[in-house]
Amino acid sequence: MDQTAVPDQCDFTVFGGTGDLALRKLLPALYLRDHEGQLPRDTRIIGVSRAELDDAGYRDAVRAALTTHLPAGDLDDGSVERLLARLHHVALDVEHPDDWHQLHSLLKDRPAPELTSRVFYLAVAPALFGSISRHLDEIGVVDERSRVVLEKPIGKDLASALAVNDAVGQVFDESQIFRIDHYLGKESVQNLLVTRFANTFLEPLWNSRWVDHVQITVAESLGVGERGGYYDHAGAMRDMVQNHLLQLLCLVAMEPPTHVGRETVRDEKLKVLQALKPMTAEDVASETVRGRYDRGRVDGEEVASYAEDLGHDDSATETFVALRAEVQNWRWAGVPFYLRTGKRMARRTSEIVVVFKAPPHAMFPHSEGVTEPNRLHIQVQPDEGMRLHLTAKEPGPGGIRLRPVSLDLNYATAFAQRLPDAYERLLMDVIKGNPTLFMRRDEVEAAWTWVEPILTAWATSPGRPDPYRAGGTGPDAATALLERDGRSWQAHDR
Ligand code: BG6
Repeated sequence: MDQTAVPDQCDFTVFGGTGDLALRKLLPALYLRDHEGQLPRDTRIIGVSRAELDDAGYRDAVRAALTTHLPAGDLDDGSVERLLARLHHVALDVEHPDDWHQLHSLLKDRPAPELTSRVFYLAVAPALFGSISRHLDEIGVVDERSRVVLEKPIGKDLASALAVNDAVGQVFDESQIFRIDHYLGKESVQNLLVTRFANTFLEPLWNSRWVDHVQITVAESLGVGERGGYYDHAGAMRDMVQNHLLQLLCLVAMEPPTHVGRETVRDEKLKVLQALKPMTAEDVASETVRGRYDRGRVDGEEVASYAEDLGHDDSATETFVALRAEVQNWRWAGVPFYLRTGKRMARRTSEIVVVFKAPPHAMFPHSEGVTEPNRLHIQVQPDEGMRLHLTAKEPGPGGIRLRPVSLDLNYATAFAQRLPDAYERLLMDVIKGNPTLFMRRDEVEAAWTWVEPILTAWATSPGRPDPYRAGGTGPDAATALLERDGRSWQAHDR
C-alpha cells in the first residue's frame, strides 16, 4: 500500500464530536495510535457539536468513552492524559454563521497555521456535508493540505449522492476527499488482497471455470437499538449492501492491479461495479429477498421486534437483504455472487465463502463417506482467519473412506499481536494522505447506479419485507434463493 508522510502538525476536527461514532470508534482509535506514538507530534483534536461543552467538559466525556470502549489493559494513564490534552470542543450549529467564528479562531490560533494539515471528519448526516464544506471554505480554513472525511452512506440514492459529491467537490479536490467504508480497513479484508495477489496458487482457479459460486454474509446479532431514526430511512440495502457488501464483492472479483497503489485498486474495483448485471423489476422479484426481524431470542435473551424497537409499525424498511448478483465479464460470467446481511441474526459473523466446482470425474466410485466441494472460507470477523476445505482419506485399512477436513489459518494464533480496529488504520491513512482504502466518487456512484433499481422496485411493489425470527438465519425465502439453484448457504448456519 502507498506509504505517505506523517505531517508535523495536524488539526483533526470531528463534526459530530459528541456522537456515537466519535466516542465509540474515532477517539479510541486516535488514542491507540497516539499511544503507539504515531500521531503527528503537534496534533490537536477538535470536537464540534451542538453541545454546550467547554474543553474540560469534552475531555471528561472522552475520558469516560475511552474507559467504556477500550479494554482496561489498553489504557495507559500517561497516554490518556496526552490524548486528553490534545482535545478542544467547539459548540456550533452548522446553520448559524456566527458560530463558525470560534472554529476559525481556534484553527488559526497556533504557530504556523499555514503549515498545519487539517482533517475535517464529517460524522454527521450526509445532508450537511455540502453546507459544512461551504462554511469551512468561507471562513478560510481549507487549503491544499486539507482533507475531508465523509462517513457513509453518501446520499440515499444516485441523485442525492451526485448532489453531495458536487457540493463537497466545489470546495475540496477529489484527491482531498476521503469517503470512508470501514470494512476496507479491517485486517482480514486487506488480507484478502494479499492472499489473492501475493500468492500464486489461487489465481489460476479464481474464475468461472473452477469457481461454482461466491457467498458473502455480514450477519449481526444486534438490532437497530437507538439508531432507529437513521436506520428506518436507510434499511439494510443502503446501510450495508450499497457499501460494505459491494466493496467486499469488488475485492473478491477484481482483476489484479499493476501494483497496489492509490488509484490502481480503485480503478479495478470500479470495473467490477460497472460489470454488475443491472436488475430489472422482474429480476428484483426473483433475485432479491428482503426481511424484517420479529421477536425472538438472541444469545439466550428475549429480544423485541423491529417494530417494537422503532416504536411503531408503519415501516416497510428491511433489516435483512439476500440477493443474487452477477459480474458480467470474462472471468466471472455465469458465476452467482450471493450476498446476505441482516440484523438480529443468530450471531455476529462476516464471512466470504468461495465454493469451487466438484471434480469433473468421480475417481473413487466405491468409496464411503461424503465429498463436499472445496471451499475457501474467509472469516472477516470475529475470529479472523481463513479455512480451506478439502476432502481427505480417513486413515485405516480396507476401502477408501472420504472425509472433509480443513487447513486453518487463525490470525490470533498465527500472529500473536492485537489486531487493530479498522478505524485506526483508516484515520492514519487520512492523516498521511493515502486514499487507497477509501471510496472514490465514481465507485460510490456506480454502486448507487446498481442498487437504485432494486430500491425503486421494492418501493413501488405492494409487498413488504418477509418477517423473520430474531436469532435465526433470516427469512425462508433467503434459503430458497439458493436451494432453487441447487445450493445452500455455507456460512454461519452450519
Ligand atoms: C455500519 C452500519 O456501517 O456498520 C451499522 O451503519 C452496522 O448498521 C456496522 O452495525 C457494522 O460494522 P461492524 O464493523 O461491526 O461489522
